Amino acid sequence: MKVVSSEFLASYPSFDKCPEPKLPEYAFVGRSNVGKSSLINMLLDKKQLAKTSQTPGKTQLINHFLINGKWYLVDLPGYGYAKIAKTKRKDFQRLIKDYIEFRLNLVCLFVLVDSRHKPQNNDLLFMQWLGEKQVPFSIVFTKTDKLPKMKLAENIELYKTTMLDKWESLPEIFTTSSETKLGQEEILNYIEKLNRSVDF
Ligand code: GTP
Ligand code: MG
Repeated sequence: MKVVSSEFLASYPSFDKCPEPKLPEYAFVGRSNVGKSSLINMLLDKKQLAKTSQTPGKTQLINHFLINGKWYLVDLPGYGYAKIAKTKRKDFQRLIKDYIEFRLNLVCLFVLVDSRHKPQNNDLLFMQWLGEKQVPFSIVFTKTDKLPKMKLAENIELYKTTMLDKWESLPEIFTTSSETKLGQEEILNYIEKLNRSVDF
């Protein structure tokens, strides 16, 4: 799919303030600093449309981007960042969970995982919760430019076997780098396919 236009719409403090759920929507979620905002920029070929930072905790609201005038991409705050105040962390978690559970036009959630790390408990528990809530999701491995190919393959394999302890089948999996643009075409084509399969 070709992205011919992408624009930042606005930021919202909670799911019930988001635009009317009239267009298909895809959101990016994952631990702080995993590369959600960078991935959105990479997909859209824009440098800083979604604000990125080396400091975790940059994205603090629900950010909507309108693509080709027909569908939304959503940048969410990160979860599990230890250095922000506990109360604020809880607010974030509520915000993210409510958005995911109640946003009617959310077609697929992309769960981002840093490809350099072994499976982390909070990511696995989060996906478990998605399963319980029957939220369709895919896994996106990020920052693949930061490790050798062999190591990457090993980490992904370990991730799959760990998932299969709890899951009968695996979700769609993407490997990406916002530096090399690996995965750009695959994710955009996947969204295009889903856009065709939903009725809005
Ligand atoms: P929060 O908004 O704080 O939750 O973080 P985020 O998940 O949106 O991460 P963000 O996109 O801001 O990226 C965090 C840092 O990782 C930045 O310094 C990015 O440049 C870097 N980064 C993100 N993706 C990649 C990647 O694919 N490769 C490399 N080498 N660096 C990346
Ligand atoms: Mg961000």
